[in-house]
Amino acid sequence: MKGVILAGGTGTRLYPLTRIVNKHLLPVGSYPMISYGIERFRQAGITDILVVIGKQSAGLYTNYLGSGENFGVNLTYRVQETAGGIAEALYLSKSFIARGEKFVALLADNLFLDDLTPYVQQFMKQAHGSARVLLKPVDDPRRYGVPVFDPSRPDLISFIEEKPEKPQSNYSVTGIYMYDDAVFERITTIDRSARGELEITDVNNLYARDGKLEYDVLQLWWGDAGTFESLLEAGMRMRGVLP
Ligand code: G1P
Repeated sequence: MKGVILAGGTGTRLYPLTRIVNKHLLPVGSYPMISYGIERFRQAGITDILVVIGKQSAGLYTNYLGSGENFGVNLTYRVQETAGGIAEALYLSKSFIARGEKFVALLADNLFLDDLTPYVQQFMKQAHGSARVLLKPVDDPRRYGVPVFDPSRPDLISFIEEKPEKPQSNYSVTGIYMYDDAVFERITTIDRSARGELEITDVNNLYARDGKLEYDVLQLWWGDAGTFESLLEAGMRMRGVLP
């Protein structure tokens, strides 16, 4: 099982901090944000990791992470030239994933306390060509992708609404996604959204439409450190998680 960490993007909601350094290198607790995703992968036995970075701060990433040796992992890098959405960034990992191989993709600003191991084990049991996402109940689902469930198939997500005005559940779809190489074919079939991006929710909805999108619910704290408030909270929650 391989891992892909998506750490591009411009982080406009965190200006002016992100005018100096890429969002995923900002301090969270005692470490740069990206450290936590790498540690979660390592903990789950995922040590072959691709990091997708933007051009901004590219040198800082390699200065800090290097080959990954000091973090107990083996890192490969890809550079995303322009911010074109999560699915576009994910597509850059196509040549990193072998035919039929499964992998976990993680948005580097998603910070959480769960060990990924049991969820990865569940995903290993799934059929080729299916996908798995991790959910978390939240106070304001309107900020996130929100799953809709089919009462006749409660083990599947039937649709995801991206940032809905009237959410149909109180779950967010977190930025922890599990696919195999079939996802790249699916990415080629989606169109750009109104904001000009290839949306991961559109990709996930292709799986949902086909009855192939399973899920687990995270048990412990999860947050997306994309705003000043959530960055502060993440700093407090994640302090002490790494030695
Ligand atoms: C993205 C996804 C959204 C998901 C969120 C998790 O949103 O589009 O479905 O719930 O990540 O962090 P963004 O924060 O990029 O707007």
